[in-house]
Amino acid sequence: MDKLIIRGGKRLKGEVEISGAKNAALPVIASSLLASGTSTITRVPNLKDVHTIGKLLTYFGSKFNYEKNQVIINTEKVNNPEAPYEFVRTMRASVLVLGPLLARFGRARVSLPGGCAIGARPINLHLMGFEKMGAKIELESGYVIAKVKKLKGASIYFDIPTVTGTENLMMAASLAKGKTLLENAAREPEVIDLANALISMGAKIKGAGESIIEIEGVDELKPISYSIIPDRIETGTFMTIAGITGGNIIIKGCRIEHLDAVIMKLQEVGLVFEHVSEGIRVIGPSRPTSTDVKTMPYPGFPTDMQAQFMALMSIAEGTSIIKETIFENRFMHVAELRRMGANITVEGGTATVRGVRRLKCAPLMATDLRASASLVVAALAAEGETSIHRIYHLDRGYEKMEEKLKKLGADVRRVKE
Ligand code: EPU
Repeated sequence: MDKLIIRGGKRLKGEVEISGAKNAALPVIASSLLASGTSTITRVPNLKDVHTIGKLLTYFGSKFNYEKNQVIINTEKVNNPEAPYEFVRTMRASVLVLGPLLARFGRARVSLPGGCAIGARPINLHLMGFEKMGAKIELESGYVIAKVKKLKGASIYFDIPTVTGTENLMMAASLAKGKTLLENAAREPEVIDLANALISMGAKIKGAGESIIEIEGVDELKPISYSIIPDRIETGTFMTIAGITGGNIIIKGCRIEHLDAVIMKLQEVGLVFEHVSEGIRVIGPSRPTSTDVKTMPYPGFPTDMQAQFMALMSIAEGTSIIKETIFENRFMHVAELRRMGANITVEGGTATVRGVRRLKCAPLMATDLRASASLVVAALAAEGETSIHRIYHLDRGYEKMEEKLKKLGADVRRVKE
């Protein structure tokens, strides 16, 4: 297991290039299962989760080859539509194979994901959707067993807009008979990216990015050739890093239109944004001011940025109220930030952050992906040398994080424990 050692207090300057989005790459890779043949996907980040879904596809009988941010998948020999527990327990997003497998093979056996550090995270809405499309779903020994002769189009309403649920059903509906309407669908950019990938395979999808998506099923899809969008959460994380270090960072290769809510909040607390030819320049204030934030489905403030924003608010002038409305247990970083001297209290889904002037170093424990990112953000501004243990959580979602930080002038190193 690796840990990161960060000596804080440096003003980070320079350029950083944003990688492809993990949460767009995973569903697009899963959608390769919808067609027989060779798919090529580019701008795929080199992350643990990408290799996990690659192993899963190989287990089904595909060939999966990752090289230099490009994935080549051959699905001609897929013959084993079963996703065992060993994959799903390491990566919940494995459940994204359920829709494609069911649509192409009429059957799938996929381990039911358990809860995770940030919440219970059920998949009842995915299963409800497949049932509406005519699938018979059974739960047996911790596995979802889904069977159908041919999926048929249906009107499906989500009680909660679910990102991977919308993606799973959009993939399934692309090969179903007739028209499917997904209502109260998730509107995240990753959903639009998957829709664009599916459209490039021959799917007929209208309205991705809006709350009603219409899919007219087709008989067959062709393999994908597609490039993944840049990661908006990595982009937002580097923005908060500019903010907390009083830095001056040019973020290259990002899509800032995916970060409206985040940018508006960061501007409110004193960050300055300038459009430049390569991307966006972000200038941090000498000390941020406080503001309140509530996480919401897109286009609201993303839950995946809540922890990093809280790290920034922990040194702000004034008090911030941060409400987490998406996941019931996404404040695991609070206890660690407190160990650095942050003044944060939590009641239910609300954290009250009373800004302190300085954070101090401490040995810290990463608990989940975005919590780890928030500890990195905090450590970059803290006095002394912070060690962050269990950094494998960070490696699931950030490509070459310490290399990118070093290039910006951070004092950071990775050490084997
Ligand atoms: N929900 C249900 N039933 C369902 C599905 C979801 O009750 O069948 C609830 C969840 O428990 C949660 C809410 O609906 O309270 C929204 O969850 P959603 O399904 O949208 O989350 P997800 O699809 O499992 C994706 C991202 C997460 C991100 C969330 C929210 C991927 C692979 N994961 O998860 O990313 O936090 O959307 O935006 O796309 C991360 O990257 O760190 C991460 C956790």
